[in-house]
Amino acid sequence: MINVGFIGAGGIAQTHAAALAQVEGARLAAVTDTVYERAESLAHQFETRAVAGLADLIRFPGLDIVYILTPPHGHLEQMLAAIAAGLPIFCEKPLTLTLPDADQVIVAAREAGVPLMTGLSHRFHPLAVQAREMLQAGELGDFVAAWSHRLTTLAVAPDSWLGQRSISGGLTLQFAMHDLDWELWLGGEVAQVSAQEVRTNPAIDIEDNLWALLQFRQGGSGSVGVSWSAPQPHTERGLIGSRGNLRIINQRRLVGQLANGRVLEQDLGDDYDWFDVFVRENRDVINRLRQGQAFSVSGEDGRQALELSLAVQRAAMTQRMVFLPILSMTTPEEMV
Ligand SMILES: NC(=O)c1ccc[n+]([C@@H]2O[C@H](COP(=O)([O-])OP(=O)(O)OC[C@H]3O[C@@H](n4cnc5c(N)ncnc54)[C@H](O)[C@@H]3O)[C@@H](O)[C@H]2O)c1
Repeated sequence: MINVGFIGAGGIAQTHAAALAQVEGARLAAVTDTVYERAESLAHQFETRAVAGLADLIRFPGLDIVYILTPPHGHLEQMLAAIAAGLPIFCEKPLTLTLPDADQVIVAAREAGVPLMTGLSHRFHPLAVQAREMLQAGELGDFVAAWSHRLTTLAVAPDSWLGQRSISGGLTLQFAMHDLDWELWLGGEVAQVSAQEVRTNPAIDIEDNLWALLQFRQGGSGSVGVSWSAPQPHTERGLIGSRGNLRIINQRRLVGQLANGRVLEQDLGDDYDWFDVFVRENRDVINRLRQGQAFSVSGEDGRQALELSLAVQRAAMTQRMVFLPILSMTTPEEMV
């Protein structure tokens, strides 16, 4: 039995607790939250223990892994505490808010021999996995371009942490990071980016729309367009190869044509629930931990997604092309 400890008992913790409950041989053993009642409530719901704080959580007897499910400005301290206790870590994206913090934690984990996984959940969507496998197997020819458009409505409350750039990293680190990571996952390293952001909600300190263009180092281009102000939700991800192309529509339908002429038409059905992605992610984490295998989305992967997101944010803020790697940068404001 793998015993999991949660730091944070908010929205994503609810999801992970429910997902973990579907993974054989794993259980939520303890949970903490700065708002103790939230920890108690989650503990009650999932028949586990609430503990008072970070120190108690990482010392909880028999823990095998810590899940960090808090807003990102606390991730560094929580990861360093888990590393000091020798506990493997699953940390929700964004890994940290700055590259120096990400470097610090990656080095500390490596030196302590602590496995570190970044929660880039979109990599576990079955159609996304299939698209990438087809690209890697050469079934679409060479990579030409990828895109990801994700439009939805999210009314960010002015007093929520999400609306404060210094805590959340804004829409770019909170939301677009998944889309940017999809492109990194397909096209590899990015060499340069340009971007524009739009703010439609003056009550919050962050962008709520972002449009970015990427140039990959090995050739090919990408685009990302995300919105939190679109009343009618729509998602489309796509991939063009030199001899085929495909689209994933609303995370349910995969359509396209392969290099051999085969037409793709696959549908997960209207009932497909995104929750499945979290079950797959949790199953992967637990199985790999049990078998002593490296996690599928490393700390370095999390850093790469962070670097690209920060580059895009910088490009949007400065209205200039940004070249990667970006060095010696702490916050997007300092980059301007
Ligand atoms: N992978 C995904 O698809 C996905 C989806 C949603 C959120 N997230 C990520 O999960 C993280 C949490 O987001 P959320 O939506 O659950 O937020 P939330 O506000 O719903 O919950 C966060 C919880 O953490 C608690 N908390 C804050 N600081 C703490 C600390 N120092 N110690 C212990 N508890 C603390 C808060 O009291 C709150 O209960 C963020 O990094 C977010 O980007 C990822």
